[in-house]
Amino acid sequence: MLKKICTLLLLSVSLTANAQYNTLWIPDTLSGTNFNLAARDTFKQIIPGNQTITEAINGNWWGPTMIWNKGDIVHINVNNKLQDTTTIHWHGMHLTAVMDGGPHQPIPPGTVWQPYWQVTNNAGLYWYHPHLHMMAQKQLNNGLGGMIIIRDAVESALPLPRTYGVDDIPLALTDRRFNTSNQIQDVPYGDSMMVNGVLRPQQNVPAQVVRLRVLNAAPERSYNLGFSDNRTFYVITSDGGILDAPVAVTRYLLSAGERIEILVNFTGQLGQTVNLKAFNSVLPQNIPGGDVFPPGNPFYNGLARIDFNILKLNVTAQTPSPITSIPSALTTNNYYNEASAQLTRNLTISDTNIAGNPGISFVINHKLFDINYINYNVPLNNTEIWKIVSTSGLGHPFHIHDVQFNILTRNGVAPPAYEKGWKDVVFIKSGETIRFITRFDDFADTLHPFMYHCHIALHEDEGMMGQFVVKNTGTSGINEAPEVIPEFSLFPNPASSKLNISFQGQNASDLSSGIYYIRIFNSAGKMLYMLPKPQIQNGIDITNLSAGIYFLQMTDERTKKLSTVKFIKQ
Ligand code: C2O
Ligand code: CU
Ligand code: CU
Repeated sequence: MLKKICTLLLLSVSLTANAQYNTLWIPDTLSGTNFNLAARDTFKQIIPGNQTITEAINGNWWGPTMIWNKGDIVHINVNNKLQDTTTIHWHGMHLTAVMDGGPHQPIPPGTVWQPYWQVTNNAGLYWYHPHLHMMAQKQLNNGLGGMIIIRDAVESALPLPRTYGVDDIPLALTDRRFNTSNQIQDVPYGDSMMVNGVLRPQQNVPAQVVRLRVLNAAPERSYNLGFSDNRTFYVITSDGGILDAPVAVTRYLLSAGERIEILVNFTGQLGQTVNLKAFNSVLPQNIPGGDVFPPGNPFYNGLARIDFNILKLNVTAQTPSPITSIPSALTTNNYYNEASAQLTRNLTISDTNIAGNPGISFVINHKLFDINYINYNVPLNNTEIWKIVSTSGLGHPFHIHDVQFNILTRNGVAPPAYEKGWKDVVFIKSGETIRFITRFDDFADTLHPFMYHCHIALHEDEGMMGQFVVKNTGTSGINEAPEVIPEFSLFPNPASSKLNISFQGQNASDLSSGIYYIRIFNSAGKMLYMLPKPQIQNGIDITNLSAGIYFLQMTDERTKKLSTVKFIKQ
C-alpha cells in the first residue's frame, strides 16, 4: 500500500514537473570588433523559492553569444569581477598562446585582461569557458561561459537559416545538481537537464528548415541526441566548420566540448511539437552518461543511462522567405593529406596508479599534468599525426588547443562522414585507437604553451592534461621575448588618455612583438590591467583609469625580471 502511494506521488510530481516548461533563454548577441565580458557573481531564479547563486558573464547564465567575422581583429576586455581568479579560454580558436586563456593566463579578481587577435577560423560554432587549473569544473558548473558564432564568406553564400533566435538557435547543453536550497553543487553529473541555463525549456520554431547550433557544455556527460519522433536530421558542421555535405542521421553522440550544427525540417508541421532528447538509455557503461552509480556515490545522478528531454520544440508559422529544403552539398574542404605528415606522435590514455596519488587516475602518457613541464616541442610548420591509444575503461573527449584536426582513423577505419570535418575534440571510446592529422603553422612561442586534455572537466582538473609549445627551429628569435627589457620611460606623464612607451636605444615597434605582458597596478599594488602582447606602438589606452598614481610593469619572460615605471593619470 505504502509503495502504491509513493508511486502515485512520484507520478504526480513528475507530471507537474513535465507540465511546466520554461521559455528557452536565447543569449544576447555581441557583435563588432570590441567586446566587453564581465564575469561576476550573480543570482538567477532557476527554481521556485531561493534564487541560485551563479557566476556568469555579463550577468547571465548562459553568457552572451559573440558574433565574429573571419578576418576581423577582435579585441576583448575580460573583466574579472568575481571573488576568485579565473581564466576565459576561446575554445577552438587558432591564436597566439598568450591570448588563449588557458591555465597560463589567470585573471585575478578586479583585473581586466585584454587579448586581441585576428579571427582565422572557419564559420561555425565555438565557445568560451573558464580554464583555471583545478577549478574548471567548479567555475563551469557555476555558469561561466558562452558561445561564439563565426561567419565567413563561404557560409554566408549558402542557403542556410541564419536568423539568430528564430530559425538559427544556439543550444548550450548541460546538466546540474541543485541542493534543497536551490544551490548548484560542484559535481560532475547533474540530475536536471538544462539548455542555455534554463530547466525544462521550450522554444518556438517556424514550420521550415531550422538550424540548431548544439554545444555540449556539460562537465562530463555525453548526450546521444535525437528527436522524440525519431526523425532524420542533417549534420552540417563539425567543431571547426562546415562539412562538404549535410549528413543525415537519427542519433548523434555529442561528448563534452564538441559542437555540431544540425538542420531539422519542420516544413508542413505547423502546430506539432517534438522533443529534442538524449537517448542515453542505450549508452554503455563506459560512455559518460551511460554509467550508473549507487546512491551515495559522488557520481550518482538522476539522469544516468535514461532517455530524457532536452528541449521541447513547438512548430509555429513560417517566417518570410523561409528555407524549406536541405541543401545537398555545402562546400569543398581541403583536408590534410596523410602523406604530408612529418611525424607521428604516440599518445596513450590510461587508468594508471600514480605514485603518491590515491586510487586510479585517468592520465595521458602515464603522467599527471605539471604546469611547469612542457610535454611536447612541436616544430613550427610541422604536419603531425597524433595517434592516441586508449586502454582506459572509460571514453574520454580529447581536445587540443590552437589547431583544428582531421580524424584519419578510428580503430584503423576511416571515420563516419559526420566526423570527417574539422575537429578540435574527438571522443575516444574505451579501448579505441584514434589517429588525427593537424598542422602547426603559426604562433611559434617557446615560452607559452598550448594545452591538450580530456574535456571532462573533472579529469582535466585532476591532471588529464598536457601542454606543448610551437618552436621555431629556423631563424631563432622570431616571436620570442627579448632577453632583457631595456630601460623605458613613459610619456606624456602625467597623461590623460594615451600613454606612450619609449625604450632607451630601441624603437617601440622593434620590441612590440617581444613584449608579452604589460600590467598596470594602482598605488595600492592591485593589478588592474593585463595586456598580452600589447600593440605598444599605438600607445596604451588609459582612458578608463580614474585620476591617480599608477605603475606600469613589464616582465622579462625568461629572467622574470620586472621593470616598473610610475605614471600619473590626470
Ligand atoms: Cu574547451 Cu582546453 O578547453
Ligand atoms: Cu580549448
Ligand atoms: Cu577523461
